[in-house]
Amino acid sequence: MKLNTLAQVISFGLCAQIVSVAGLNEARSLERRKTSILFNPQGLPQLPGLQEATNASRQVGLNLDDVQGDILIGMRKLFERFFFFGILNAPDFKAKLKTEILPLVTSTMQVIANETDTMLNIAFSQTGLVALNITGPTNDLNDAVFAKGQAMDAFNLGDPNTTNWVPEFVGTNIHGVMLLASDTEASINTTLADLQSKLGNSITEIYSLRTAMRPNENRGHEHFGFLDGISNPTVGGFQDPLPGQALVPTGEILVGETGDSVTRPEWAKDGSFLVFRQLKQLVPEFNKFLADNPINEPGLTPEQGSELLGARMVGRWKSGAPVFLSPKFDDPDLGKDPTRNNNFTFAEPGQNISDPTDQSGCPFSAHIRKTRPRADIGLPENVTSNHHIVRAGIPYGPEVTTDETSSNTTEIERGLAFVAYQSNIANGFQFLQHFWANNPKFVHQGVGFDPIIGANASAERPVNGLDPTNTTRNFTLTTDFVVSRGGEYFFSPSISAIANTLSV
Ligand code: HEM
Ligand SMILES: *[C@@H]1O[C@H](CO)[C@@H](O)[C@H](O)[C@H]1NC(C)=O
Ligand SMILES: *[C@@H]1O[C@H](CO)[C@@H](O)[C@H](O)[C@H]1NC(C)=O
Ligand SMILES: *[C@@H]1O[C@H](CO)[C@@H](O)[C@H](O)[C@H]1NC(C)=O
Ligand SMILES: *[C@@H]1O[C@H](CO)[C@@H](O)[C@H](O)[C@H]1NC(C)=O
Ligand SMILES: *[C@@H]1O[C@H](CO)[C@@H](O)[C@H](O)[C@H]1NC(C)=O
Ligand SMILES: *[C@@H]1O[C@H](CO)[C@@H](O)[C@H](O)[C@H]1NC(C)=O
Ligand SMILES: *[C@@H]1O[C@H](CO)[C@@H](O)[C@H](O)[C@H]1NC(C)=O
Ligand SMILES: *[C@@H]1O[C@H](CO)[C@@H](O)[C@H](O)[C@H]1NC(C)=O
Ligand SMILES: *[C@@H]1O[C@H](CO)[C@@H](O)[C@H](O)[C@H]1NC(C)=O
Ligand SMILES: *[C@@H]1O[C@H](CO)[C@@H](O)[C@H](O)[C@H]1NC(C)=O
Ligand SMILES: *[C@@H]1O[C@H](CO)[C@@H](O)[C@H](O)[C@H]1NC(C)=O
Ligand SMILES: *[C@@H]1O[C@H](CO)[C@@H](O)[C@H](O)[C@H]1NC(C)=O
Repeated sequence: MKLNTLAQVISFGLCAQIVSVAGLNEARSLERRKTSILFNPQGLPQLPGLQEATNASRQVGLNLDDVQGDILIGMRKLFERFFFFGILNAPDFKAKLKTEILPLVTSTMQVIANETDTMLNIAFSQTGLVALNITGPTNDLNDAVFAKGQAMDAFNLGDPNTTNWVPEFVGTNIHGVMLLASDTEASINTTLADLQSKLGNSITEIYSLRTAMRPNENRGHEHFGFLDGISNPTVGGFQDPLPGQALVPTGEILVGETGDSVTRPEWAKDGSFLVFRQLKQLVPEFNKFLADNPINEPGLTPEQGSELLGARMVGRWKSGAPVFLSPKFDDPDLGKDPTRNNNFTFAEPGQNISDPTDQSGCPFSAHIRKTRPRADIGLPENVTSNHHIVRAGIPYGPEVTTDETSSNTTEIERGLAFVAYQSNIANGFQFLQHFWANNPKFVHQGVGFDPIIGANASAERPVNGLDPTNTTRNFTLTTDFVVSRGGEYFFSPSISAIANTLSV
């Protein structure tokens, strides 16, 4: 019996045996696990199954064997290490990229098929591509924001300057990042140690960040306590969109696909720009702000009024339930139901999106409304907006300690290792941060900043519309509850580009 494709292997029901993936990955023999390395929190869409993914490859030509595994899977990683490196010896590194790294680089299909214990992805900065001699007009990725690097963009993003940045992110020394994800940190450590010993002096470690999903009942929740990763767009054919989930042209996320209007080198096809930001979160300070400013709504205790304020800042309750559909109280059943928790446009009957004072459902300034205005900027959304990103971040740092809770002061750094994928940084992450979150006039005059991520170079931020009982009551936030520690812009190439262009 000859097994040609993964699908056939599955249909014969042979689990946990050595299989080889068709085509490009023919040379690789990977053991199939019985379980996924990912954790799918209730409330997030399920990832496509192997059959669905195989269909996508066949029917819409979405080459999931070639797209690196992190790009389309969203916020489902249990443990992840970000390993930022500089290239010291380019010829040596190129050789090892081919022989040591490439065999471990994990495709989307392999993640879905549970074919790896540790997912490895690799991405390069502009200076990294230069170090690899991927230069000249024919190799130009044509993304000016990427080309300059993130440090040059700090001011534009609302960071005061780079004084709060992790020093290693300042400048353009980082050539690349390796992302390693698994269901145990031990497995990541083993893989990384092995890689480092094989790569030897061809690279140098510049900075490394350990991250993990929060424990127990907080799995899937970011450090302020809110379920995260609920609303990510999907691309044609990857999975059937759930109600309210954006279905965007493939080229909005993957370079060189339909919907990406920029001229790119051939080899860049099916890659994606990876925006990395280390975003520190001041959790006790955030909680104190909520405790000090409860919404005074009839029928709510002060604690519930504080919860309501937090929910209106995000646009969702901690469970993930959108305030637009559940305006006064959290609704955990709604939060964990992915068929209902994203099913709104802000323009349903009863809400007038043209009236800046009508914020009974959801404040215009709420984080999810700032970063995805839905009907506020017109429907159908995939025609009116090309400003979608796939978020693939993960929390870092420990849980809040009792000391920090009682002093209302952060003592140990924690936050979000923010990762966003898009085919165009100026339309994606940079646009969301600069033109929407940091723009007090978006989507109407007087809306104010996004209270979660909006930034005014560390100066005060007016945020309006948070109090549903009185939308003329304005808030002025004097603390940034999210502090940028910087990051870098990368390009996450297709696996064939690593094989045929970057390592030769
Ligand atoms: C520490 C920083 C951040 C925190 C705590 C945070 C938290 C959240 C939470 C709780 C949600 C709702 C859950 C969901 O829909 O998945 C969300 C959604 C979202 N966030 Fe953030 N976020 C942060 C940074 C950012 C940044 C920097 C951006 C982009 C510039 C961003 C863009 C988005 C988008 C696009 C959505 C989905 C909106 C939708 O589709 O309805 N977030 N975020
Ligand atoms: C991968 O593992 C998950 C459980 O963790 C399982 O539900 C899924 O069916 C597996 N996929 C394949 C293709 O074996
Ligand atoms: C895959 O495609 C086949 C035929 O086109 C269809 O019958 C089947 O339902 C699809 N399976 C999934 C999981 O999408
Ligand atoms: C860089 O690439 C160019 C052609 O693209 C080639 O002529 C040159 O020799 C390469 N340099 C190095 C150091 O590999
Ligand atoms: C950076 O910005 C902060 C806050 O605005 C300010 O205190 C500091 O002096 C600035 N540093 C530099 C080097 O400009
Ligand atoms: C993984 O390595 C890091 C240091 O690189 C260490 O702090 C951590 O304890 C290790 N984790 C495990 C499970 O070995
Ligand atoms: C836009 O989304 C709708 C509904 O989700 C879908 O039917 C349509 O094919 C999408 N159009 C594009 C260009 O992706
Ligand atoms: C989505 O919301 C619409 C009303 O806005 C409703 O008609 C539809 O049944 C909802 N879908 C689900 C799955 O709840
Ligand atoms: C919606 O609000 C706008 C601006 O305040 C107003 O001109 C319009 O008449 C309102 N529409 C409805 C249906 O109330
Ligand atoms: C922490 O903040 C709460 C709420 O404002 C306040 O009651 C408490 O006294 C503060 N604790 C300290 C040590 O300042
Ligand atoms: C709140 O801010 C809005 C917009 O800037 C402004 O029109 C309004 O007068 C302010 N309300 C109060 C009470 O200051
Ligand atoms: C941003 O902060 C400055 C002070 O540095 C302040 O003058 C300005 O009004 C703030 N921007 C907005 C839009 O409120
Ligand atoms: C609404 O808030 C404004 C500004 O804080 C205040 O002047 C006004 O009295 C409030 N209105 C009500 C009905 O509480």
